[in-house]
Amino acid sequence: MSGQILDKNTIDILSRECIRARESSYSPYSKFRVGCSILLTNGKIIRGCNVEVASFAGTICAERTAIVKLISDDEDNNGNSTKLQQVECIGIIGDTKEGVITPCGICRQVLREFLPSKTKIVMFNNDGTQNEILTLEDLLPYSFGSDSLGT
Ligand code: THU
Repeated sequence: MSGQILDKNTIDILSRECIRARESSYSPYSKFRVGCSILLTNGKIIRGCNVEVASFAGTICAERTAIVKLISDDEDNNGNSTKLQQVECIGIIGDTKEGVITPCGICRQVLREFLPSKTKIVMFNNDGTQNEILTLEDLLPYSFGSDSLGT
């Protein structure tokens, strides 16, 4: 596992858009807001926030909200999202007290389903002034995926 590098402009866009995404968070139970932004190669941004449900298992994380939005908004989808192929990198921010947020295990698996292993994930502290960058593969090594099924 090794830290990855991205240019300052990209980091600034991601942190700003993550903060914006977090403002939409519906998190009355945990009171822990999370925002995710997905940057596409054409400069477009897809934002997602966590959405909680009183029956807690119904809750969806910010990262999964964003990826589901990206796939379902794709005009030329046919189950083969073109926007997925344009994902440049992903940012995540949360109401962490200390340090950067790291994505939960379920979100790692879902991101791994749809994105290349080298996709960069930028994890921010709560005000976006600090970040750590890892690839999806760093975050979910030895993962199980469609290729593992061999069907
Ligand atoms: N949460 C996310 O949105 N993303 C993560 O990767 C970790 C957890 C949300 C789910 C729940 O609404 C709140 O944070 C507390 O777990």
